[in-house]
Amino acid sequence: ALGPRAQSAQYRLVSFDTLNSTNAEALTRVRAGEQGPLWLATAHQTAGHGRRQRAWISPPGNLACSVVETLTTDHAGAATLGFAAGLALETALRKVSNEAASFRLKWPNDVLAGGKKLAGILIEAEATPDGLAAVVGMGVNVVAAPEGTPYPATSLNAQGIVTDAAALFAALTDAWAEWFALWDHGRGFETIRTQWLVRAAGLGAAIQVRQGERVIDGVFETIDEAGRLVVSHDGGSTKVAAGDVYFGAA
Ligand code: BTN
Repeated sequence: ALGPRAQSAQYRLVSFDTLNSTNAEALTRVRAGEQGPLWLATAHQTAGHGRRQRAWISPPGNLACSVVETLTTDHAGAATLGFAAGLALETALRKVSNEAASFRLKWPNDVLAGGKKLAGILIEAEATPDGLAAVVGMGVNVVAAPEGTPYPATSLNAQGIVTDAAALFAALTDAWAEWFALWDHGRGFETIRTQWLVRAAGLGAAIQVRQGERVIDGVFETIDEAGRLVVSHDGGSTKVAAGDVYFGAA
């Protein structure tokens, strides 16, 4: 089972040997009245899901976890939480790799290593009588990466980083507590936004955004105060709320 560290903080931790999906389990618990802060983790996730109804393959050895936060303060919503999650993952990954590797954050919510996708984040939110329950699901390819994905994937092991899911999870629970506190009690999204941009992949470079059939080619200018991607092109600029980014496009 994955680390006891989260239990020492105010977070509860429930860990499973095998589970369909930590996000699905979190939503079930939220609908049954359970409140955050709560961590769910599993050593083997059998039916994980990703953004845009994609499957997330997480064999034993990889990390699959979700943190539930009940948002009682007046937040615009959970949309910008993914950027705090990206920063928490980057902090934890840097720690377990002894600062030897460099990771970039790819809009909206991915972590890249060596230019390939290492980790993904899926936020799901549910209105409850206690406030908005945000489920922040995070998956990291520690020992294995899927093949044939639209965006090339990698794992920590493939990047030459020797660690395990338990060590990474322990570092992640610590890092999350800090970044979430900043998101929650800090100066709003602005601090998170600035820190995220420092670690962003492809800032100022040519990108292509794909939204189903729609394709936008341009330059990645920034992310705005709502976390939208700002792409400039001949006709001006476009703010993108959802889509998939590819780099190096003309
Ligand atoms: C994506 O890149 O599309 C997001 C992937 C999110 C995967 C994580 S693994 C733990 C949690 N449980 C799920 O079913 N999905 C998330």
